[in-house]
Amino acid sequence: MNPRFTLRVLSKDDVRRAVSMARAIEIVKGAFAQLSAGKAVVPIRTQLPVARHQGVTLFMPAYLNETDDLGVKIVSVFPRNLEQGLPTIFALVVVVEAGTGRPIAAMDGTYLTALRTGAASGAATDLLARPDAHVVAVFGAGTQGRTQLEAVCQVRDIHRAWVFDTNMEAAARYAGEMRGRGGRIPADVRVASSPAEAVREADVICTATTSTAPVFADSDLRPGVHINAIGAFTPQMQEIPVETVRRARVVVDSREACWAEAGDLIIPRDRGLISESHIDAELGEVVAGVKPGRASANEVTLFKSVGNAVQDVSVAREVLVQAERSGLGVEVAL
Ligand SMILES: NC(=O)c1ccc[n+]([C@@H]2O[C@H](COP(=O)([O-])OP(=O)(O)OC[C@H]3O[C@@H](n4cnc5c(N)ncnc54)[C@H](O)[C@@H]3O)[C@@H](O)[C@H]2O)c1
Repeated sequence: MNPRFTLRVLSKDDVRRAVSMARAIEIVKGAFAQLSAGKAVVPIRTQLPVARHQGVTLFMPAYLNETDDLGVKIVSVFPRNLEQGLPTIFALVVVVEAGTGRPIAAMDGTYLTALRTGAASGAATDLLARPDAHVVAVFGAGTQGRTQLEAVCQVRDIHRAWVFDTNMEAAARYAGEMRGRGGRIPADVRVASSPAEAVREADVICTATTSTAPVFADSDLRPGVHINAIGAFTPQMQEIPVETVRRARVVVDSREACWAEAGDLIIPRDRGLISESHIDAELGEVVAGVKPGRASANEVTLFKSVGNAVQDVSVAREVLVQAERSGLGVEVAL
Protein backbone atom coordinates (compact mmCIF):
# COMPACT_ATOMS: atom_id res chain seq x y z
CA MET A 1 0.00 0.00 0.00
CA ASN A 2 1.19 3.53 -0.75
CA PRO A 3 2.05 5.55 2.35
CA ARG A 4 -0.34 8.43 3.08
CA PHE A 5 1.35 11.81 2.75
CA THR A 6 -0.17 14.80 4.45
CA LEU A 7 0.33 18.54 4.34
CA ARG A 8 -0.35 20.72 7.40
CA VAL A 9 -2.22 23.88 6.41
CA LEU A 10 -1.94 26.83 8.78
CA SER A 11 -3.94 30.05 8.84
CA LYS A 12 -2.75 33.52 9.81
CA ASP A 13 -4.15 32.97 13.32
CA ASP A 14 -2.33 29.65 13.63
CA VAL A 15 0.96 31.37 12.69
CA ARG A 16 0.27 34.12 15.21
CA ARG A 17 -0.45 31.61 17.99
CA ALA A 18 2.53 29.38 17.19
CA VAL A 19 5.46 31.83 17.42
CA SER A 20 5.89 34.93 19.61
CA MET A 21 7.92 37.96 18.57
CA ALA A 22 10.54 37.09 21.21
CA ARG A 23 10.99 33.62 19.73
CA ALA A 24 10.99 34.96 16.15
CA ILE A 25 13.85 37.33 17.06
CA GLU A 26 15.92 34.39 18.34
CA ILE A 27 15.18 32.31 15.24
CA VAL A 28 15.97 35.14 12.83
CA LYS A 29 19.30 35.84 14.59
CA GLY A 30 20.28 32.22 14.00
CA ALA A 31 19.15 32.39 10.38
CA PHE A 32 21.22 35.51 9.66
CA ALA A 33 24.25 33.97 11.36
CA GLN A 34 23.98 31.01 8.99
CA LEU A 35 23.49 33.29 5.98
CA SER A 36 26.59 35.37 6.74
CA ALA A 37 28.71 32.30 7.52
CA GLY A 38 27.96 30.88 4.05
CA LYS A 39 25.78 28.16 5.56
CA ALA A 40 22.63 29.01 3.61
CA VAL A 41 21.68 28.70 -0.03
CA VAL A 42 19.63 31.73 -1.03
CA PRO A 43 19.34 32.65 -4.69
CA ILE A 44 18.39 36.29 -5.35
CA ARG A 45 14.60 36.21 -5.42
CA THR A 46 12.87 35.77 -8.75
CA GLN A 47 10.64 38.73 -9.50
CA LEU A 48 7.99 37.74 -12.01
CA PRO A 49 6.23 40.80 -13.45
CA VAL A 50 2.56 40.25 -14.31
CA ALA A 51 2.33 43.29 -16.59
CA ARG A 52 -1.24 42.69 -17.72
CA HIS A 53 -2.44 43.16 -14.12
CA GLN A 54 0.33 45.56 -13.06
CA GLY A 55 1.47 43.19 -10.36
CA VAL A 56 4.60 41.30 -9.44
CA THR A 57 4.97 37.89 -7.86
CA LEU A 58 8.20 37.07 -6.01
CA PHE A 59 9.54 33.55 -5.46
CA MET A 60 11.90 33.32 -2.49
CA PRO A 61 13.50 29.92 -1.80
CA ALA A 62 16.10 29.12 0.87
CA TYR A 63 17.95 26.21 2.40
CA LEU A 64 19.68 26.65 5.77
CA ASN A 65 22.41 24.09 6.18
CA GLU A 66 22.89 24.01 9.93
CA THR A 67 19.23 23.86 10.94
CA ASP A 68 18.24 21.87 7.82
CA ASP A 69 15.38 24.27 7.00
CA LEU A 70 14.09 24.20 3.42
CA GLY A 71 11.21 26.07 1.84
CA VAL A 72 9.93 28.86 -0.34
CA LYS A 73 7.80 31.94 0.03
CA ILE A 74 5.56 33.14 -2.77
CA VAL A 75 4.56 36.76 -2.31
CA SER A 76 2.52 38.92 -4.66
CA VAL A 77 2.32 42.71 -4.70
CA PHE A 78 -0.66 43.80 -6.80
CA PRO A 79 -1.35 47.51 -6.14
CA ARG A 80 -4.51 47.52 -8.31
CA ASN A 81 -6.19 45.20 -5.80
CA LEU A 82 -6.97 48.37 -3.83
CA GLU A 83 -9.56 49.29 -6.51
CA GLN A 84 -11.46 46.12 -5.57
CA GLY A 85 -11.02 46.67 -1.84
CA LEU A 86 -8.53 43.80 -1.63
CA PRO A 87 -5.14 43.69 0.12
CA THR A 88 -2.24 44.50 -2.20
CA ILE A 89 -0.06 41.74 -0.74
CA PHE A 90 -0.77 38.01 -0.57
CA ALA A 91 1.80 35.48 0.56
CA LEU A 92 2.18 31.77 1.20
CA VAL A 93 5.12 29.83 2.64
CA VAL A 94 5.69 26.18 1.83
CA VAL A 95 7.92 24.17 4.19
CA VAL A 96 9.73 21.26 2.57
CA GLU A 97 11.22 18.36 4.55
CA ALA A 98 14.94 18.67 3.87
CA GLY A 99 15.66 14.94 4.21
CA THR A 100 13.19 13.86 1.53
CA GLY A 101 12.19 16.99 -0.42
CA ARG A 102 8.54 16.40 0.55
CA PRO A 103 6.34 19.49 1.09
CA ILE A 104 5.05 19.17 4.65
CA ALA A 105 3.29 22.47 5.38
CA ALA A 106 1.69 25.46 3.71
CA MET A 107 0.95 28.54 5.75
CA ASP A 108 -0.28 32.09 5.39
CA GLY A 109 2.72 34.26 4.68
CA THR A 110 1.32 37.75 5.24
CA TYR A 111 1.49 37.81 9.03
CA LEU A 112 4.62 35.65 8.88
CA THR A 113 6.27 38.33 6.70
CA ALA A 114 5.38 41.06 9.19
CA LEU A 115 6.59 38.86 12.07
CA ARG A 116 9.95 38.01 10.51
CA THR A 117 10.52 41.58 9.25
CA GLY A 118 9.82 42.91 12.74
CA ALA A 119 12.08 40.18 14.15
CA ALA A 120 15.00 41.29 11.95
CA SER A 121 14.66 44.86 13.25
CA GLY A 122 14.30 43.48 16.78
CA ALA A 123 17.55 41.56 16.36
CA ALA A 124 19.34 44.61 14.92
CA THR A 125 18.00 46.88 17.66
CA ASP A 126 19.11 44.42 20.31
CA LEU A 127 22.66 44.40 18.92
CA LEU A 128 23.03 48.01 17.80
CA ALA A 129 20.76 50.39 19.74
CA ARG A 130 21.86 52.13 22.93
CA PRO A 131 21.05 49.96 25.95
CA ASP A 132 19.26 52.96 27.49
CA ALA A 133 16.99 53.57 24.47
CA HIS A 134 13.51 54.52 25.72
CA VAL A 135 11.83 56.38 22.85
CA VAL A 136 11.02 54.98 19.41
CA ALA A 137 9.67 56.66 16.26
CA VAL A 138 7.88 54.65 13.58
CA PHE A 139 7.41 55.99 10.04
CA GLY A 140 4.62 54.21 8.16
CA ALA A 141 1.53 53.19 10.09
CA GLY A 142 0.91 50.09 8.01
CA THR A 143 1.27 46.35 8.47
CA GLN A 144 5.04 46.40 8.96
CA GLY A 145 4.97 49.46 11.21
CA ARG A 146 2.98 47.45 13.77
CA THR A 147 5.45 44.58 14.11
CA GLN A 148 8.40 47.01 13.98
CA LEU A 149 7.15 48.63 17.16
CA GLU A 150 6.38 45.30 18.81
CA ALA A 151 9.89 44.03 18.04
CA VAL A 152 11.72 47.12 19.31
CA CYS A 153 9.67 47.01 22.54
CA GLN A 154 10.67 43.38 22.92
CA VAL A 155 14.38 44.19 23.16
CA ARG A 156 14.43 47.63 24.83
CA ASP A 157 12.53 49.21 27.71
CA ILE A 158 10.46 51.62 25.59
CA HIS A 159 8.47 54.31 27.44
CA ARG A 160 7.09 56.27 24.49
CA ALA A 161 6.43 55.70 20.80
CA TRP A 162 5.85 58.30 18.09
CA VAL A 163 4.24 57.47 14.76
CA PHE A 164 4.32 59.54 11.60
CA ASP A 165 2.41 58.73 8.42
CA THR A 166 1.63 61.00 5.47
CA ASN A 167 -1.89 59.60 5.89
CA MET A 168 -2.89 61.16 9.22
CA GLU A 169 -5.93 58.89 9.57
CA ALA A 170 -3.73 55.82 9.28
CA ALA A 171 -1.43 57.26 11.97
CA ALA A 172 -4.36 57.94 14.31
CA ARG A 173 -5.73 54.41 13.81
CA TYR A 174 -2.28 52.97 14.48
CA ALA A 175 -1.81 54.98 17.67
CA GLY A 176 -5.25 54.00 18.97
CA GLU A 177 -4.61 50.34 18.26
CA MET A 178 -1.04 50.16 19.58
CA ARG A 179 -1.88 52.08 22.77
CA GLY A 180 -4.19 49.27 23.79
CA ARG A 181 -1.95 46.43 22.64
CA GLY A 182 -0.34 45.84 26.04
CA GLY A 183 2.54 43.46 26.58
CA ARG A 184 5.78 45.44 26.34
CA ILE A 185 4.25 48.15 24.12
CA PRO A 186 3.75 51.34 26.17
CA ALA A 187 0.37 53.06 26.45
CA ASP A 188 2.14 56.31 25.50
CA VAL A 189 1.87 56.11 21.69
CA ARG A 190 1.66 59.57 20.08
CA VAL A 191 0.90 60.78 16.57
CA ALA A 192 3.58 63.18 15.31
CA SER A 193 2.42 66.12 13.23
CA SER A 194 5.75 66.27 11.36
CA PRO A 195 8.77 64.03 10.75
CA ALA A 196 10.84 66.41 12.92
CA GLU A 197 8.50 65.95 15.87
CA ALA A 198 8.68 62.17 15.47
CA VAL A 199 12.48 61.92 15.56
CA ARG A 200 13.34 64.77 17.94
CA GLU A 201 13.58 62.55 21.03
CA ALA A 202 13.87 59.15 19.33
CA ASP A 203 16.61 56.70 20.34
CA VAL A 204 15.36 54.16 17.79
CA ILE A 205 13.67 54.90 14.44
CA CYS A 206 11.91 52.38 12.21
CA THR A 207 11.05 53.37 8.65
CA ALA A 208 8.40 51.10 7.14
CA THR A 209 6.94 53.18 4.33
CA THR A 210 6.49 52.93 0.57
CA SER A 211 8.34 56.24 0.08
CA THR A 212 10.64 57.14 -2.80
CA ALA A 213 12.17 60.12 -0.94
CA PRO A 214 13.79 60.50 2.51
CA VAL A 215 11.13 60.48 5.24
CA PHE A 216 13.00 62.67 7.78
CA ALA A 217 15.82 65.25 7.77
CA ASP A 218 19.30 64.22 8.88
CA SER A 219 19.68 67.42 10.93
CA ASP A 220 16.75 66.43 13.18
CA LEU A 221 18.37 63.20 14.42
CA ARG A 222 19.66 62.75 17.97
CA PRO A 223 23.24 61.58 18.51
CA GLY A 224 23.43 57.84 19.08
CA VAL A 225 20.18 57.02 17.28
CA HIS A 226 19.69 53.55 15.81
CA ILE A 227 17.64 53.28 12.60
CA ASN A 228 15.93 50.21 11.14
CA ALA A 229 15.12 50.98 7.48
CA ILE A 230 12.93 48.25 6.06
CA GLY A 231 10.56 49.93 3.58
CA ALA A 232 12.65 50.51 0.44
CA PHE A 233 13.18 47.28 -1.46
CA THR A 234 13.85 48.52 -5.01
CA PRO A 235 16.72 50.65 -6.39
CA GLN A 236 14.30 53.58 -6.88
CA MET A 237 12.84 53.60 -3.36
CA GLN A 238 14.40 55.64 -0.58
CA GLU A 239 13.58 56.43 3.06
CA ILE A 240 16.91 57.52 4.57
CA PRO A 241 18.66 60.83 3.77
CA VAL A 242 21.99 60.40 2.00
CA GLU A 243 23.72 62.45 4.75
CA THR A 244 22.50 59.96 7.37
CA VAL A 245 23.69 56.98 5.32
CA ARG A 246 27.11 58.65 4.94
CA ARG A 247 27.67 59.28 8.64
CA ALA A 248 26.09 56.08 9.96
CA ARG A 249 27.66 52.74 10.63
CA VAL A 250 25.72 50.61 8.13
CA VAL A 251 24.74 47.00 8.81
CA VAL A 252 22.61 45.08 6.29
CA ASP A 253 20.69 41.82 6.11
CA SER A 254 22.61 40.75 2.99
CA ARG A 255 25.31 42.69 1.11
CA GLU A 256 24.47 40.96 -2.17
CA ALA A 257 20.73 41.61 -1.91
CA CYS A 258 21.16 45.21 -0.74
CA TRP A 259 23.45 46.11 -3.65
CA ALA A 260 20.84 44.61 -5.98
CA GLU A 261 17.72 46.15 -4.41
CA ALA A 262 18.24 48.75 -1.66
CA GLY A 263 17.69 52.28 -3.03
CA ASP A 264 18.82 53.73 0.30
CA LEU A 265 22.35 52.48 -0.49
CA ILE A 266 22.28 52.26 -4.30
CA ILE A 267 21.27 55.94 -4.78
CA PRO A 268 24.23 57.39 -2.78
CA ARG A 269 26.61 54.84 -4.34
CA ASP A 270 25.51 55.76 -7.86
CA ARG A 271 26.04 59.45 -7.03
CA GLY A 272 29.59 58.61 -5.93
CA LEU A 273 28.85 59.55 -2.30
CA ILE A 274 29.61 56.14 -0.76
CA SER A 275 31.53 53.12 -1.95
CA GLU A 276 30.50 49.51 -1.47
CA SER A 277 32.89 49.22 1.48
CA HIS A 278 30.57 51.62 3.34
CA ILE A 279 28.54 48.58 4.42
CA ASP A 280 30.39 47.68 7.58
CA ALA A 281 28.76 44.35 8.35
CA GLU A 282 25.95 41.93 7.75
CA LEU A 283 23.66 41.41 10.72
CA GLY A 284 24.68 37.75 10.85
CA GLU A 285 28.32 38.78 11.37
CA VAL A 286 27.29 40.92 14.35
CA VAL A 287 25.16 38.05 15.72
CA ALA A 288 28.14 35.70 15.43
CA GLY A 289 30.50 38.23 17.05
CA VAL A 290 32.68 38.41 13.91
CA LYS A 291 31.85 42.14 13.79
CA PRO A 292 31.17 44.31 16.85
CA GLY A 293 27.84 45.76 17.95
CA ARG A 294 27.50 49.44 18.96
CA ALA A 295 30.90 51.06 19.50
CA SER A 296 29.95 54.25 21.39
CA ALA A 297 26.98 56.10 22.86
CA ASN A 298 27.00 58.74 20.11
CA GLU A 299 27.45 56.49 17.09
CA VAL A 300 24.57 56.56 14.57
CA THR A 301 23.77 53.04 13.42
CA LEU A 302 21.65 52.04 10.43
CA PHE A 303 20.24 48.59 9.77
CA LYS A 304 19.07 48.31 6.17
CA SER A 305 17.02 45.28 5.21
CA VAL A 306 15.32 44.28 2.00
CA GLY A 307 14.11 40.96 3.41
CA ASN A 308 15.64 37.55 2.97
CA ALA A 309 14.14 34.12 2.43
CA VAL A 310 16.19 32.69 5.32
CA GLN A 311 13.92 34.68 7.65
CA ASP A 312 10.74 33.22 6.13
CA VAL A 313 11.94 29.66 5.93
CA SER A 314 13.44 29.53 9.43
CA VAL A 315 10.43 31.14 11.11
CA ALA A 316 8.02 28.97 9.08
CA ARG A 317 9.85 25.84 10.24
CA GLU A 318 9.48 27.00 13.87
CA VAL A 319 5.77 27.67 13.25
CA LEU A 320 5.42 24.11 11.99
CA VAL A 321 7.30 22.60 14.96
CA GLN A 322 5.09 24.48 17.42
CA ALA A 323 1.92 23.75 15.42
CA GLU A 324 2.65 20.02 15.48
CA ARG A 325 3.20 20.21 19.24
CA SER A 326 -0.08 22.00 19.94
CA GLY A 327 -2.19 20.54 17.15
CA LEU A 328 -2.70 23.80 15.23
CA GLY A 329 -3.96 23.82 11.64
CA VAL A 330 -5.48 21.05 9.56
CA GLU A 331 -3.82 18.07 7.94
CA VAL A 332 -4.75 17.47 4.32
CA ALA A 333 -3.98 14.19 2.54
CA LEU A 334 -2.15 14.73 -0.72
N1 LIG B 1 12.54 44.73 4.35
C1 LIG B 1 11.63 43.77 4.40
O1 LIG B 1 11.92 42.64 4.77
C2 LIG B 1 10.22 44.09 4.07
C3 LIG B 1 9.20 43.16 4.37
C4 LIG B 1 7.88 43.47 4.10
C5 LIG B 1 7.56 44.70 3.52
N2 LIG B 1 8.56 45.57 3.20
C6 LIG B 1 8.26 46.89 2.61
O2 LIG B 1 7.90 47.77 3.67
C7 LIG B 1 7.06 48.80 3.16
C8 LIG B 1 5.83 48.92 4.05
O3 LIG B 1 5.06 47.73 3.97
P1 LIG B 1 3.59 47.61 4.62
O4 LIG B 1 3.13 46.23 4.34
O5 LIG B 1 3.61 48.09 6.02
O6 LIG B 1 2.82 48.67 3.70
P2 LIG B 1 1.49 49.48 4.05
O7 LIG B 1 0.95 49.94 2.74
O8 LIG B 1 0.63 48.66 4.97
O9 LIG B 1 2.01 50.76 4.90
C9 LIG B 1 2.86 51.73 4.38
C10 LIG B 1 2.51 53.06 5.05
O10 LIG B 1 3.52 54.01 4.74
C11 LIG B 1 2.91 55.28 4.62
N3 LIG B 1 3.81 56.22 3.94
C12 LIG B 1 4.14 56.30 2.63
N4 LIG B 1 5.05 57.30 2.44
C13 LIG B 1 5.31 57.82 3.67
C14 LIG B 1 6.18 58.84 4.14
N5 LIG B 1 6.96 59.52 3.31
N6 LIG B 1 6.21 59.11 5.47
C15 LIG B 1 5.44 58.42 6.33
N7 LIG B 1 4.59 57.44 5.94
C16 LIG B 1 4.53 57.14 4.63
C17 LIG B 1 1.61 54.98 3.87
O11 LIG B 1 0.67 56.03 4.03
C18 LIG B 1 1.19 53.68 4.57
O12 LIG B 1 0.35 53.92 5.68
C19 LIG B 1 6.73 48.40 1.73
O13 LIG B 1 7.56 49.11 0.84
C20 LIG B 1 7.05 46.92 1.69
O14 LIG B 1 7.34 46.43 0.41
C21 LIG B 1 9.86 45.29 3.48
